Amino acid sequence: MRLVLLGLPGAGKGTQGERIAAEYSIPHISTGSIIRSVIASKSSLGMEVNGYISKGNLIPDHLAVDIVRERLVQDDCQGGWILDGYPRTVKQAENLDAALQREAMALDLAFDIRISEPEAIGRIAQRRMCRQCGITYHLTYYRTQVEGICDRCGGELYRRADDTESTARQRLKVYMLQTHPVVHYYAQSGRLYSVDGDRPIDDVFQDVKEVLANLQSIPCVGS
Ligand code: AP5
Ligand code: MG
Repeated sequence: MRLVLLGLPGAGKGTQGERIAAEYSIPHISTGSIIRSVIASKSSLGMEVNGYISKGNLIPDHLAVDIVRERLVQDDCQGGWILDGYPRTVKQAENLDAALQREAMALDLAFDIRISEPEAIGRIAQRRMCRQCGITYHLTYYRTQVEGICDRCGGELYRRADDTESTARQRLKVYMLQTHPVVHYYAQSGRLYSVDGDRPIDDVFQDVKEVLANLQSIPCVGS
């Protein structure tokens, strides 16, 4: 199964991506997470990409394409994957299709998780991440049992550097300008499913699972 998750910052791509990965045993690949680890490594590439991400802008297409190309050739991707935050431009989407075609493969489906802008800003303000395993929490909707400590691995929770309100607003602008056209790109080729993301996390996941159950019942798709 090869899937893409689209949606505004804060829509729940990471949250749903983690659940889909666990349910179907495929890797959840978040380009944002990969970029954050490159930044944490303090390499020259890390410094370069931080210049974009810290302002809420996209990193250049050629860097994003390279990051994903390197990740998708790894062994754990042979049985499929779920891409979170990629593609984010039509150029990246075309590049992904071309790369898959060269391997006689195809994308099964792109999910567009839809929420309003005020909801996105509100969620981002209350998001907390685990420094160790990267899982995402929310101070109101998805709380840890012990404040500030990850339920899964005991790691420390932190707030992402790009989760300030001004950076979040810029990310929303960039999404509408550069990423929203990707939604149309997949809609035009009949590979888009829109999910109402403005519901509890489990309800959204239930919807996603129903769609994927139908996908899997079609022979030669989802392998
Ligand atoms: P990235 O890390 O992908 O950030 P994003 O797209 O802004 O999305 P978020 O991670 O903020 O939101 P999400 O949809 O994952 O929501 P989450 O599940 O956490 O990218 C960061 C940056 O990297 C970009 O700005 C760009 O600079 C760069 N980049 C990345 N990919 C790139 C590419 N391909 N090309 C160029 N540049 C790239 O949920 C949010 C919060 O809400 C959480 O607290 C969660 O617990 C809560 N929540 C989730 N679902 C629900 C629900 N249904 N109800 C209530 N609360 C919920
Ligand atoms: Mg995310």
